[in-house]
Amino acid sequence: MVEQCNPTISSHYIGLRLPSNPTYTVTNMKKILFVSSEVYPLIKTGGLADVCSSLPKALVELGQDIRVIIPKYPSLKTVGEVQFLCSLRIDNHLINIFETQIPDSPIIAWLVDCPDLFNLPGNPYVDEKGIPWVNNAERFSLFCRVAVEVAMDKVNRGWKPDIVHCNDWQSGLVPALLSLEKNRPKTIFTIHNMAYQGLFPVEVVRSLNLPGQLWNPNGLEFYGMLSFIKGGIVYADRITTVSPTYALEIQTPEFGYGLEGLLAHRSEHLVGIINGIDTNEWNSEIDPHISQRYTVDSLPDKLPNKSELQRRVNLPVNDQVPLFGLISRLVEQKGIDMIIECLPEMVELPMQLVLLGNGDKDFERQLQNIASLYPDKIVIIIDYNESLAHLIEAGSDVFLMPSRFEPCGLNQMYSQRYGTIPLVRKTGGLADTVVDTLPDSIDNHSATGIVFKEANSGALLEAIKRTLLLYSNHATWQQMQTNAMNKDFSWRNSAAQYLALYDNI
Ligand code: ADP
Ligand code: GLC
Repeated sequence: MVEQCNPTISSHYIGLRLPSNPTYTVTNMKKILFVSSEVYPLIKTGGLADVCSSLPKALVELGQDIRVIIPKYPSLKTVGEVQFLCSLRIDNHLINIFETQIPDSPIIAWLVDCPDLFNLPGNPYVDEKGIPWVNNAERFSLFCRVAVEVAMDKVNRGWKPDIVHCNDWQSGLVPALLSLEKNRPKTIFTIHNMAYQGLFPVEVVRSLNLPGQLWNPNGLEFYGMLSFIKGGIVYADRITTVSPTYALEIQTPEFGYGLEGLLAHRSEHLVGIINGIDTNEWNSEIDPHISQRYTVDSLPDKLPNKSELQRRVNLPVNDQVPLFGLISRLVEQKGIDMIIECLPEMVELPMQLVLLGNGDKDFERQLQNIASLYPDKIVIIIDYNESLAHLIEAGSDVFLMPSRFEPCGLNQMYSQRYGTIPLVRKTGGLADTVVDTLPDSIDNHSATGIVFKEANSGALLEAIKRTLLLYSNHATWQQMQTNAMNKDFSWRNSAAQYLALYDNI
C-alpha cells in the first residue's frame, strides 16, 4: 500500500528552505535511529520522553523504519519480552544491547546495558537530593559511543540508519563522533532545552578517551569546559528545536547561554518545528485516568472530573469556583518563584489551586508552607504521578503555565485538548500554541487562552484576574473551550516537517 501525506510547510522554517508541498510515499522509507536518554513510557522525567515516543510513532505511521536507542536504567518500565541482541566492548566496559518494544507501539527500542554506569536507582540524571550523578560525563559519553557503533552498524545487525536523530545534550557527542566516520548516516540534533548543556570540567576530557581533533574552541570546548550540547550544535548536519519562537530566542543572549553566536552562525541549518502530542494518550474521549469522559460536543461531562479532582485532593467540592491546575517540574524555568510570590494574593481571590510537581527542594518547601495555611484554597502535591496528571488536565478549569522560558511545552496543548484554558507567558512554544483572548480573537473564534508578557508576579496576578473575569462570562468561556478543543495538536503536520527535513539533508 502506498500512503501519501501532504503536509503544510509554513513559516515554522527559519533559514532552512524546504520544498513547499512535499509528498511522501512509503517508497521514501528511511531508516532512522532516534537517540534519547528518556522515552515514554519506559522512563520519563519530562517532555523529552513524551516527544521521543510520540514523534517516532508518528513517523512510523508515515512509513518510516525507526529504532530508538536509550540506556538500560534499572527503573525502565518494559512490558513483554526483552531480548539479548549483541555485546561490544568500549574501553574497559562490556556492554550488552537488548531489544524490546516501546509499550503500545510497534517501535523497537535498543537498550544499552552497562551496569557499572547505568545501574543507579531512580532518576536518570540526578540522585534523590537532586544532585547530578558524579559520573554523568562518563555515562552519557559511553552511551553516545555505543550509539555511534550502532549507527555505523559495527554491531553487525544488518541495519544501518540513513538518519541519526539525536535529542538534547545526553546525545550531543553522537554527531561529533560520527563526523569523523566515512560513509556515515546524516545527523539531526534536536534541542529540547538550552538550559541543560552537559558541561563538564576539562579534567574529564582525558578520561573519556575522545578523539583529540574534537577538542578545540570550534568543537567540543566551551570556555575551557567540555560541552556535550556543542557536539550537537557544531557537528550535526541539521539542528532543530521544538518551536519556531524558541528557534529565534536561542539566537539571543537571554536564551542562548553563550551559544547564541554559534546558533546564529548555523541559522541556515537551524529550524523550529513545533512538537505535536500523542492524541491517543491525551484524549478526553477515551482517557482511562479520568472519572467521566467527554468531547467538545459533551462539554458538561467535563464537570464530574472537577468534583472528582476536588474530592481526590481534599479541596471543597464546588462547581462554581474556578479551579486552577498546574503540573510541572519545580524549577525556575517554570516560573514557580512568580507563583510563590503571587500566592498570598491568590488566596484572597475566588479560586482554588492544585499543583502537582517535584524538583527544587526550596520551591517544594515554600509551596507547602503557604499551602498549609490555606487548605481550602491551595493543595500542593509533591510527587510524580502520571494518572493524577490526567485528572488535573480534565478536572481543572484553567491550566497555569507562567514559564520564564519554554522551548515548546506540552501541558498547554494537553489542556487545550481537554477544554482546560491555559494561562501562559508569551515565550517559546507557549507563544506559538496559545491564542490570547482579546476582542478580535473572541470574534473570530480563535481565542484559546490567556497570555501575559512580562516575567514578574505583578503581570501574572493581572493575568489571573483577567482569567477570573473571563470565567464569569459563561458564553465566552465556553467558546474558548470549544476553540481550544477543536485545535489540531497532533503530530501529523510536524512529523511531516521532520520528514521533509530528513529528505532535504
Ligand atoms: P518539561 O519537559 O520542560 O518538563 P513539558 O511541558 O514539555 O515540560 O513536559 C512535561 C511533561 O512531564 C508533561 O507530560 C507533564 O504532564 C509531565 N509532568 C511533569 N511533572 C509531572 C508530575 N509531577 N507528575 C506527572 N507528570 C508530570
Ligand atoms: C524540554 C522543554 C519543553 C519541551 C520538551 C519536549 O524539556 O523544557 O518545553 O516541551 O523538552 O520537547
